[in-house]
Amino acid sequence: MKLVRRLTPSLFLLCLAALWMAAPHARGAIDFKSRILPVFEKKCFDCHGAPREEGGEVKSPRAGLRLDSAKGILRGGEGGAVISPGSPDDSVLFQMVSQRSSHDDFMPKEGDGLGPLEKLYLKKWIAEGAVFDGWIGNEEGLGDASAAPSGSKAKDAGAPGEGAQVAMVPKKTPETTPVPAMKDPPRAMKGTPATVNFQREVLPFLKRSCVDCHRAPYEEGGRVKKPKAGLRFDAARAIIQGSGEGPVLVPGDPDESEMLARVSLPEDDDDFMPPDGDATPLSAAEKEVLKRWIAEGADFGGWVGNEEGLIERLPEAPTSSEPSAAELLAKQVKGASAQDLAAVTATGASITQVAVGNPLLRVEYITGESAVTDADVAKIGAIAGNVTELDLSETGVSDEGLAMLSGFDKLTYLDLHNTAITDVTIDHIQKLGYLEYLNLYGTSVSDASLPKIAKLRKLKAVYLWKTSVTEEGAGKLRQALRDAKISF
Ligand code: HEC
Ligand code: HEC
Repeated sequence: MKLVRRLTPSLFLLCLAALWMAAPHARGAIDFKSRILPVFEKKCFDCHGAPREEGGEVKSPRAGLRLDSAKGILRGGEGGAVISPGSPDDSVLFQMVSQRSSHDDFMPKEGDGLGPLEKLYLKKWIAEGAVFDGWIGNEEGLGDASAAPSGSKAKDAGAPGEGAQVAMVPKKTPETTPVPAMKDPPRAMKGTPATVNFQREVLPFLKRSCVDCHRAPYEEGGRVKKPKAGLRFDAARAIIQGSGEGPVLVPGDPDESEMLARVSLPEDDDDFMPPDGDATPLSAAEKEVLKRWIAEGADFGGWVGNEEGLIERLPEAPTSSEPSAAELLAKQVKGASAQDLAAVTATGASITQVAVGNPLLRVEYITGESAVTDADVAKIGAIAGNVTELDLSETGVSDEGLAMLSGFDKLTYLDLHNTAITDVTIDHIQKLGYLEYLNLYGTSVSDASLPKIAKLRKLKAVYLWKTSVTEEGAGKLRQALRDAKISF
């Protein structure tokens, strides 16, 4: 994308975003139901669920905050909103789970804190706009719009001050007790969750200024007219898919969204949209709304649009009804030993289960990637049989360190982008028959490796941009792996 390179120096970030969008297990967004909800359920519902009776007393949600429904999460607690869609660092909820556990505001108040990957997913989920993707949860008792629960004072009166830590929330009166608020950082957004209504505020100007050229193929004068640049703005799914070149929208990140970049250029720029005075440009207010809508996570609010003629470009995430590769593979595996896990985390790696109760693991380096050496990576070999997702991107790993990869026979996801590896490493992965995702972006892998990669029949996505692979080679690989998305 020539334009983007000019528009933003962080082409690399855009590329990462695009990769993230395309990752088969992620599909553009952290799935709330499988990645976030189980964590809340296990670590937060006890205190932030619906009011319930226990020992003859009504136990109300702590701080008036309910995390068991989308509405409750967006509504927040006594102090207002706890999530600022698009901005984890401004989200009280994220701040609280990221504190040191000795801090007064650390959550959960009792029990185990969030693991590093749980935090990472939560962060990404908020950054992507905190989208629930249809999940509603338990709305029982959520009728009132105000955050403060209205429990009966008479009932609560018996709870002594110290008991309040564990069981009842004594109803506080505003005069005597201030609302529990963050002591350090100010609350970012007071009571105002996502506000832009796509259908009412965004769709009208897309229709007016963009859809004429960017819509489903149609016939005119005996000829079929195709959408310009393969990009359609007439269906939610099409907007998410983007153009023939990839996504034009990164939910939660306006700066990386080409859709916004194009309308924000000077009007006489070649790349300005809509081009050449063919349609009314967006007004300043409309651009602002578009930006906000993207920042808030690009929620279509139930709008589907015209799905006619849409083909799925990205591999679909496995639907919950059919078991995923990870679920099937999990049956063959026992849990890794605590000792082995500790040896791997000692190298700075972050390890998480791919799903609650699944012995398969994801291993990655979230910080300090460049300091990771072959010796560190070798330690992961101890849990080889349990690792199904391995992200060594940007690390200092080399071919030598990856000789052990052939032992990772449950691997479905391997990310080696921007590492020093060469064709030698591909020799070690050619037997990894379950591999679905392979990212070699920014490595010196060449055409010589492609016949080996072509043997990995389960591959759904291969990234070969900025490698030594030739156009011809990539073409052949596309032919060999027809069901895979080959990014070159
Ligand atoms: C053992 C009970 C308990 C558990 C478990 C718990 N919390 Fe809390 N939470 C509280 C209490 C009590 C408060 C009121 C503020 C305080 O005392 O710090 C609170 C307040 C909060 C607030 C601030 C609400 C506001 O409007 O001020 C957030 C956000 C929050 N919790 C998130 C979480 C998350 C996320 C989890 C799970 C990871 C969690 N909590 C688990 C007891 C709990
Ligand atoms: C008169 C026809 C026309 C209209 C109206 C129009 N576009 Fe385009 N658009 C094009 C053409 C032609 C291209 C391909 C050439 C290029 O990339 O500049 C394109 C390309 C794009 C791309 C780049 C896709 C890619 O990945 O290469 C984006 C993003 C885009 N348009 C957004 C918009 C938006 C947003 C609007 C409405 C504000 C709009 N366009 C209105 C004709 C149009």
